[in-house]
Amino acid sequence: MSYLDKLKIIEEIVKTPLFSVVGFTLDKIIYVSTIEGRRSLWLVDIENKERVKIADDISSVSNIVEGSPYIMYSKDVTKGKEQHKAFIFSIDDFENFEVNAITPRRITSMCFDGENFALSSSTERTLDLWLVKPDATAERLYEANKLFFAVDIEKDKIVGQGILKGNPRSQELFIFDINTSEFDVYTPKEGSTNKNPKIHDGLVLFATTAFGKEKLVLMNMRNWELQEPKMSYDDYKGVEFSEYINFDWDLSGKIWFIAVRNGRTKIFYDGKLIDLPEGFVNNFVPAGDKHFVTWSSLTSPHKILVIDSKSGEVKTFLGEELPAETKNRLGKSKFITYKSFDELEIPTFVIESEKISKPGPTIIYVHGGPWASVNDSWNRMIAVLVASGYHVVAPNFRGSTGYGDEFRKLDIGDPGGGDLMDVVYAAKWAKENNLASKIAIMGYSYGGYMTYLATVLEPDIWDAGVAGAGITDWEELYDLSDALFKQFINLLFAGRKELLVERSAKSYTENLKVPLCIIHPQNDSRTPLKPVLKYVLNLLELGKTFELHVIPNMGHLVVKVEDAVRILFPATIFLNKILK
Ligand code: 4NP
Repeated sequence: MSYLDKLKIIEEIVKTPLFSVVGFTLDKIIYVSTIEGRRSLWLVDIENKERVKIADDISSVSNIVEGSPYIMYSKDVTKGKEQHKAFIFSIDDFENFEVNAITPRRITSMCFDGENFALSSSTERTLDLWLVKPDATAERLYEANKLFFAVDIEKDKIVGQGILKGNPRSQELFIFDINTSEFDVYTPKEGSTNKNPKIHDGLVLFATTAFGKEKLVLMNMRNWELQEPKMSYDDYKGVEFSEYINFDWDLSGKIWFIAVRNGRTKIFYDGKLIDLPEGFVNNFVPAGDKHFVTWSSLTSPHKILVIDSKSGEVKTFLGEELPAETKNRLGKSKFITYKSFDELEIPTFVIESEKISKPGPTIIYVHGGPWASVNDSWNRMIAVLVASGYHVVAPNFRGSTGYGDEFRKLDIGDPGGGDLMDVVYAAKWAKENNLASKIAIMGYSYGGYMTYLATVLEPDIWDAGVAGAGITDWEELYDLSDALFKQFINLLFAGRKELLVERSAKSYTENLKVPLCIIHPQNDSRTPLKPVLKYVLNLLELGKTFELHVIPNMGHLVVKVEDAVRILFPATIFLNKILK
């Protein structure tokens, strides 16, 4: 394959526009799309199909309240350093207003009840909570040096979640009273994990592990009493799933939820199953006699599907398929598990390339997070690797989400320990099952961290490594981090400061044996470039084989089509040279 052919595959995959639905109001669907090569916010009128662009290069969007013309969104104003400004758009007059009182900072969440917005953010020093009015005035309500995010607002109450009792293995809810400025911490049971509180008429719907496996419950804010959510249908009873991906109320108080098992979702509205193709749904928007969802799979990019609530008929509302030739290169994904060093079963997606034989060159793809997962949902990096002629094995190593909270918590106090061994055992699985000839490890962010560490702690397993936006030195990362990421590191390491050195590739650089391809955004404020440059200097002095690609005008998040090409093109050229 020529360089031109490689570039063409990458371009076709990353240029296929992605669509995700945000909400519904005033006969309009609000959505995010990459149709112009950047993340833009749009609206489309359901009746006349007229589309209007609201804003370019957006970072995040608040929920939409049916009947309200207001939408809040954030934009990074620092070329990827994730210092955001908040804006409010009004559908009534098609104008954007900047929230001037909130100076640039890392905005972590935004929510809306139709009257007011709540916003949480992080600065260098603290995390804070703001109230924003539709006229774009804002007031800071609360500030603390602990990990918390606003999730929902109703009248004088803001609810959210965080690590609020100092226990890294539990997560509590908070209820902030706007009138009294009281910040109450709530948990149904000490040590349980509680998430995603959504208010409707003084009732808080949330997911909790207080009674065993994750479960949806209601809490009455007037008396703190718990009750079971009521649904009209009980299709979900007896259906096995591990976690809730998302849930909320509709305007009339009916509950919908998206549940996941083995990397695929099922969605229930008022307890009734909504039939969709196999894959993964991120969001659900009820809109009268239609429902809208964001759907994708490992071989099909994110699109918005519309479902007729009466007939159940599913159609594409906004979305594009890959060009047929590229789609054919992707083949089929399959879900497997293998046993790790301690017999723990590791849920994994395997995608065999249609274009090469078995055994063939294989990539162990390590996802970021670490509290995230590879699902049967669209992943540009995996798609490019498979289409370029590599088998891909993507393990959901311990600590991954989607397999229950006990599994998720297994990396707390042990990052780069058991999870790294799970990744090593993925490589063993690929060899033993006759899938892999040569093997590279590749990942971005936490996956880049694992790549650095795996290539020095287990140097004989791999033929090459590709580390994107990775971590080489947790100690220096900690010093360079803002309040949010300092808290994040404390949480992940469960306060075990000694591990910051022990679990950093920097401590073992001389062990490196295989060529390393290093790709790093210049403006990354989550995993800064500086410690990586020091690592590179050390590699240079030790005479190791490496290549370094610094991507200017880009931060940690891959937001532009151009950014994705600038990461994936050097990676595939490198892999081709070493593995083929
Ligand atoms: P990501 O990885 O979530 O995959 O982007 C990480 C980024 C930053 C940190 C940890 C993981 N951090 O601790 O700063």
